[in-house]
Amino acid sequence: MSNKATSIHGLWTSRWAFILAATGSAVGLGNIWKFPYITGENGGGAFVLVYLACIVIIGIPIMMTEVLLGRRGRSTPINAMKRLAVEAGAHKAWQIIGWSGMLAGFLILSFYSVIAGWALSYILATVSGTFADASPEVVGEHFGALLGSPGSLLFWHTLFMVMTIVVVLRGVEHGLEKAVRFLMPTLFILLLVMVGYSMSMGEFMRGVEFLFKPDFDKITQEGILIAMGHAFFTLSLGMGAIMIYGAYLPENTSIAKTSIVIAGADTLVALLAGLAIFPIVFSNGLEPGAGPGLIFQTLPIAFGQMPGGLFFGTLFFILLSFAAWTSAISLIEPAVTWLVERGFTRMKASVLAGAITWVFGIGTILSFNLMSDVKIFDKTFFDLLDYLTANIMLPLGGFAMAIFAAWLMPRIVTKDELGMGDGPGYAIWSFLVKYITPIGVIFVFLYAIGLIGEK
Ligand code: PHE
Repeated sequence: MSNKATSIHGLWTSRWAFILAATGSAVGLGNIWKFPYITGENGGGAFVLVYLACIVIIGIPIMMTEVLLGRRGRSTPINAMKRLAVEAGAHKAWQIIGWSGMLAGFLILSFYSVIAGWALSYILATVSGTFADASPEVVGEHFGALLGSPGSLLFWHTLFMVMTIVVVLRGVEHGLEKAVRFLMPTLFILLLVMVGYSMSMGEFMRGVEFLFKPDFDKITQEGILIAMGHAFFTLSLGMGAIMIYGAYLPENTSIAKTSIVIAGADTLVALLAGLAIFPIVFSNGLEPGAGPGLIFQTLPIAFGQMPGGLFFGTLFFILLSFAAWTSAISLIEPAVTWLVERGFTRMKASVLAGAITWVFGIGTILSFNLMSDVKIFDKTFFDLLDYLTANIMLPLGGFAMAIFAAWLMPRIVTKDELGMGDGPGYAIWSFLVKYITPIGVIFVFLYAIGLIGEK
């Protein structure tokens, strides 16, 4: 094994540690905040179906690819790709995957942190009784007031960025594993409680139907792009986060099984969130297409009515903030480790990367209030960032990784890393990543811009 690189940033203590960290990265605002609201905006069932298909035929194979690239490269995405390109006799320009990933991570975190700030502020609002017996109007007004206040948004965004940097500067081995091991299962159970509560509401079945009954008239060409983009976003794919976690993965771990477990857990959390939220939406006569505020305008209504709502509500927003936190760490980790490899101390690297992200976040904050009328391509700054990263940069990153691993890396290397023996596993991965994933991504892009399919 002498030709294999080793990681300078340490290794996970076990396969479970990796699973927990990668799940921590995957499960976040994407599942609980974004999935329900984009499902609502894109008409429900058909959108969910496309999203699920993307998880299975694009997401899981790309996750395997990304872990494989990370473990083989044992370095930050930029250096790992450089090293692997040299090893495969390909052009060094493949390191651009690392660069664009780092940029995507930083752009995503700049708005992610603002939304995570909403979650933090809702801990305080819930525990102080703001939502007790509150009507949908009162809950809506509370959310509107938060969005309308750049000062509050800045405060919570700052707090969240500081929290993120504090963990990142101590390094991935510390703290993260333990936090995820304990918090993820608790979040899961709490979502079950919420679903249980939703079941007791009159409109539970309408929620179920909305989520699972596909009506293809309701989904647009752009909706299909959003569904695919979300498969990348929710699994943290296409920007190197999973690659960097893979770089810390011990040698003899099954990449396929691990990826399936992570994708499965992530999908389950999203579907549970949907099942908890839509019945509340319908029972209270709210709009499924309400946009980014959806969970913040619906869940508090339920917490305000249900027995023990103060406790469950507070706990829920604490756990949501934690889930966002573990994702945020992975968004900034590629940039920080890259700076460390350039000679920065971990401390300096974290503070620098964090500060730049923080400044950028101000753009998102203003797009909800003072600059909400400023539109570029008909989108606010926040919408544009979200669209550009999730729907374009991440799929392109995944596309490039697929092409590189399947077409350029020696078969013997990918086969050795995936370690699936001579069963059908390797052949399936290879077929998907060689043909299906790249064609799928291109197809969705062309379809979304109207070059193929009916107008
Ligand atoms: N997967 C995270 C979520 O669903 C977001 C994320 C995207 C994290 C890309 C890392 C990289 O919330």
